[in-house]
Amino acid sequence: MKALILAGGAGTRLRPITHTRAKQLVPVANKPILFYGIEAMVEAGITEIGVIVGDTRDEVMGALGDGSAFGAAITYIPQDEPLGLAHCVLIAHDFLGDHEFVMYLGDNLLEQDLGAFVSAFATARSGAAPPAAQILLKQVPDPHRFGIATLDAEGHVVELVEKPDDPPSDLALVGVYLFDPTIHEAVAAIEPSARGELEITDAIQWLIDAGRRVRCELLTGWWIDTGKLTPLLEANRLLLEKLERRIDGTVDGASVLDGRVVVAEGAEVINSTIRGPVAIGAGTRVVDSFIGPFSAIGNRCEVVNSEIEHSVVMDDSKVIDIPRLEDSLIGSDAVVARSKLRPRALRLMVGDHCQIDVE
Ligand code: G1P
Repeated sequence: MKALILAGGAGTRLRPITHTRAKQLVPVANKPILFYGIEAMVEAGITEIGVIVGDTRDEVMGALGDGSAFGAAITYIPQDEPLGLAHCVLIAHDFLGDHEFVMYLGDNLLEQDLGAFVSAFATARSGAAPPAAQILLKQVPDPHRFGIATLDAEGHVVELVEKPDDPPSDLALVGVYLFDPTIHEAVAAIEPSARGELEITDAIQWLIDAGRRVRCELLTGWWIDTGKLTPLLEANRLLLEKLERRIDGTVDGASVLDGRVVVAEGAEVINSTIRGPVAIGAGTRVVDSFIGPFSAIGNRCEVVNSEIEHSVVMDDSKVIDIPRLEDSLIGSDAVVARSKLRPRALRLMVGDHCQIDVE
């Protein structure tokens, strides 16, 4: 089995961060989102991975390299225009050949490990009436934002529709799909949707219409499509929940570390309180500050005389004299500083290399 990971999307809903960075490389719990997907593939025993890249290809390729750091072999497949998820399958045909494969949307994060999902497909494929595809479904409160499945009374998938105005169910298609090679016929046969994209949802519907079996499983753990600020912070929170306390940096006697806190190597905590779950990156200095639950502070940052909670601060940034920063995403190499004392909470999304002076 091979894997196809999609890391080409532009990330318009995470601007300004995505002006300078691939949305799949935004860190959650101090690790780029895309790394979780690659690691999940390798854990499921899939090491031949094709990665679809778009405008941010240099950055994605720089971060993943040849895949050897993950124990994988990565082949990059450029997509010149965002023409849809099924278009990704179309252009990956040479790489995929006649292999079964798992397609994974690089901005999706799942709690569930994928090994069982992948082996269930293999088992079903070796039985009578082998499925051509397997999808993962999750009940959502806002079905109009996703691909939606309708099941019959026996739980078989009968219809799939992409972002319906009037959703026939609340079962959303999670961004992990398994296919056999018949999907190549499907993606070649379908027409672009109203949004001008070749939809993978339509390709799977084509399989159903052609009389192929599409197996489905219901996802039990959490799933987050991280494309926007609120879900991104939610993913950061859920992943930090799994953090195990580890102090490799230095913490002075005047500081208090409460609960599950990671202080990476070379980081310094001075006269500060850190209430976990919190991750502090390597070489970061936290001085006279409070870092509250669900915060991930990247590498080589400086937090001085400030309070931060439920936020992501990326590498090489500074937060200085800020009475309270919450629900925020601060890009890398950014400065958030305040010149006059006026205590109030800030909620910010700050791009890379920015300087924000709060009056
Ligand atoms: C895509 C799919 C949709 C699926 C979703 C999962 O939507 O088209 O069917 O439910 O991913 O994240 P997009 O992220 O392109 O809006």
